[in-house]
Amino acid sequence: MNQTISVNIKGISSFAVDSALDTIREKALGCLRMLREGKGRGNEFTGWLRLPDRTVSETAAVKACASRLRAQAPVTVVVGIGGSYLGARALTEALNDPFAPQEHRLLFAGHTLSEDYHAALLRFLDGTSYNIVVISKSGTTTEPAIAFRVLRDHLRNKLGAPAMKSHIVAITDARRGALHDLAVSEGYETFVIPDDVGGRYSVLTPVGLLPLALAGYDVDAFARGMLDMALSVREGNDTPANIAVTYAAARNALYDNGYSTEILISYEPSLVFLAEWWKQLYGESEGKESKGIFPASVTFTTDLHSMGQYIQQGERKLFETVIHVKESQRNLVVPGASDNSDGIGFIAGKRMTEVNHKAGDGTRIAHIDGGVPVILVSIERIDEYNIGQLMYFFELACAISGYVLGVNPFDQPGVESYKKNMFALLGKPGYEAERERLEKELQAKG
Ligand code: PA5
Repeated sequence: MNQTISVNIKGISSFAVDSALDTIREKALGCLRMLREGKGRGNEFTGWLRLPDRTVSETAAVKACASRLRAQAPVTVVVGIGGSYLGARALTEALNDPFAPQEHRLLFAGHTLSEDYHAALLRFLDGTSYNIVVISKSGTTTEPAIAFRVLRDHLRNKLGAPAMKSHIVAITDARRGALHDLAVSEGYETFVIPDDVGGRYSVLTPVGLLPLALAGYDVDAFARGMLDMALSVREGNDTPANIAVTYAAARNALYDNGYSTEILISYEPSLVFLAEWWKQLYGESEGKESKGIFPASVTFTTDLHSMGQYIQQGERKLFETVIHVKESQRNLVVPGASDNSDGIGFIAGKRMTEVNHKAGDGTRIAHIDGGVPVILVSIERIDEYNIGQLMYFFELACAISGYVLGVNPFDQPGVESYKKNMFALLGKPGYEAERERLEKELQAKG
C-alpha cells in the first residue's frame, strides 16, 4: 500500500469546533462503509469504486488503439463535454510541456457551441490529417453530436467515406444511444463506458485513458496510482484518519458553519483543468436539493493579483483547499545580479519552487488570519502516478461527502432543464407547446 498524498486540516481548527468535526468524521466513516457495501443512494453508479482493480491489467486495447491512431495522423480531435471531456483535458494539460514540440497533438471539440471555435478548428484541420475520438455515454448529448457531425463531414470530404472509417473511434454505451448505433452501422472501432460508471467518475475508463495514451503518456502508471490510492482509502484505513474521510468531514463541518464556497487552489498553471474536473465532480455530485458547497478555483500566485483581495477581505463564507505540489520536475535557480537594481538579491540562489512554496506558506497564514479556513492536500509531484492517486482520492472523498450531506452524489437531474428549453427553442418536434411558452417568457424576462 503506497499512499503519496496527505491531508492537513490544521488550517480549519479555529473555524470548525473539534467535537463537531469528530462527530462528522465518524459519520463520514459510516458513509465510506455504506459506499463500500453498496447500500447508499445511487448505488447502481458506483462501478468506478473498484474500477482500478481491473483496469491495471486491461490497458492493452487502449494502448494498441492509440498506437494505430498516432501512426496514421499527427492530430486527434477529442469530441465530448462534461464528464466525457474534463478528465481527459485535466490529465493531458497537467502532464503537458507547453513549450516542447508535440509528437501527437490533441485538440478538443464539442465542449462548446461556439461557431467561431469550431470554424477555426476546421480551418486548422484543412491543413493536416487527423483522427476523431468521439465520446458520449448517452450518445445523445447535443454539443458533441453537432461537433461530430461537422467534423465527420469535414473528414469525409478530405478522405472519402471508406478511408474515413479507420480515423474514427467512438467511446459510448455498450448497447444504446445514437452514437452507439452510428458506430455499429459505420463500423468504427469502439470502446465501452460501463453502465455503472457516471461521466464525472469515468476518467479511468477509455474516456480518460485513450486521450492520455494518444498524447504519449503512461496509462499504466496512471492506473497504478489510482489503484494504490483505492487500496489505501477504500479499505486500507477504516478509521476517521483515512484522508478521504478526513477531507469529506472537514468540508462538511465548514459547510455546517456557513462556509458555503470552496476554492480549489494550486500554484501550478498546469493544474487549471484539474480544477475544472474537480469543480464538475463536486458541483454535479453535491449541488442539489437546495444544498451543496459551491466549488470555485483559482491559480496562485497569478490570481493573488486579481482575486487575492476578495479572498483576503471579502465576504467571509469562503474556505480553501490547496493542492501543494512538493517537488517540481525541473530545476531553475534565481540567478545573482551584481548591481541588485531589481531589489530581489535576497532571493538569488534559491530554486523557484522554494519561492513558490514560501508564497504558499505566507498566503495560507494570511488567509487563515483573514478568516478563511484552509485544507492542505499535498502531492509529491505532477506525474501520471501521482495524478492518478489525486483523482481517485477526490472521487472517493466526493462520494463520501455527498452521502454526509444527504444527497445522491451520482445523479445530475438539474442538467436536463436547459436542454429541454434549448430543444424547444430550436424547434424540436414534440416541443411545440413548450416553445410557445418559452417565447412568451423570453418576451417578458429575457
Ligand atoms: O457527469 C455527467 O454525467 C455529465 O457531465 C456528462 O458527462 C455530460 O453531460 C456528457 O454526457 P454524455 O457522455 O452522455 O455525452
